[in-house]
Amino acid sequence: MPELKNTIIINTTEEMRAFSSEAKARNSSLGLVPTMGALHAGHLSLIKRSVSENDLTVVSIFVNPIQFDDKADLAAYPSTLSSDSDLASLEGAAVIFAPAADHMYPEGFSTFVDMTGISEKLCGLSRKSHFRGVLTVVNKLFNICDPDRAYFGEKDMQQLLVVEKMVSELCMDIEIVRCPTVREEDGLAMSSRNKRLSNEERKAAGFLYRALTAAKALFGDGEKSPAKLTLAMQNILNKEPLIRIDYAELVGSADFETPETAKAGDLLMLAVYIGDVRLIDNMRL
Ligand code: PAJ
Repeated sequence: MPELKNTIIINTTEEMRAFSSEAKARNSSLGLVPTMGALHAGHLSLIKRSVSENDLTVVSIFVNPIQFDDKADLAAYPSTLSSDSDLASLEGAAVIFAPAADHMYPEGFSTFVDMTGISEKLCGLSRKSHFRGVLTVVNKLFNICDPDRAYFGEKDMQQLLVVEKMVSELCMDIEIVRCPTVREEDGLAMSSRNKRLSNEERKAAGFLYRALTAAKALFGDGEKSPAKLTLAMQNILNKEPLIRIDYAELVGSADFETPETAKAGDLLMLAVYIGDVRLIDNMRL
């Protein structure tokens, strides 16, 4: 087991606040990387980026119960705090903030951050209270850790965009840093859910990247019809019997509506089920 190099583990709001106010008093900049643990190379790329841009990096590890509307999905979520702490420490994290669920949501907790509009589309349609849970916990983590910058992955593009919108609309003084999607060799976006796929399902999961790159190539060849670009993705996904499409859409990045004609900057967005595992991915035109 590698040793935790000077990384401290904090479990309470009070201790976390004391750490960040001390850091501020010393004029140290603070980067926050919010995660639910089960860290992989995608998460580590966010931590690396934060370590390179801030004096101190806090990695939060908290499996947020209120963003799971499927309790079986929550129960199946891996919990690997000890190896996660080692990995974050090796990347140079100063603090692992790992609060307990009843610390974040004590009996009687009843304040939530709700967003209308873009949070109600795509993943917000199939997972009704998901973004309410995400925005509430991210808001709490921001208030507890008081970071200068917070790092989010483009892998979860809708999450990144709703967090940016919340920060802007609620006038939070935090810079949100967008980090590119880290992929496996066959293009599959890294995700802690990939571990739940059987060998056969894992092979099928490669079709998501194929569908996105095919639609993007078609756009590169001059195809501007959102319907045709969407159909190109669907046709590829439908070739794989293990895949059930939740959504496959082309949307504008500001409003998540289908544009009349596709343009550079629009987003190809995918969510599929393979067995009972839900996978998402996206690509910018
Ligand atoms: P989690 O799924 O653990 O992801 C934590 C962060 O890592 C998110 O910003 C996510 O976009 C990023 N990430 C995951 N896989 C990635 C990949 N392959 N490449 C690049 N970045 C990747 O997202 C959450 O947790 C939660 O919703 C959270 C924001 C922590 C709130 O509970």
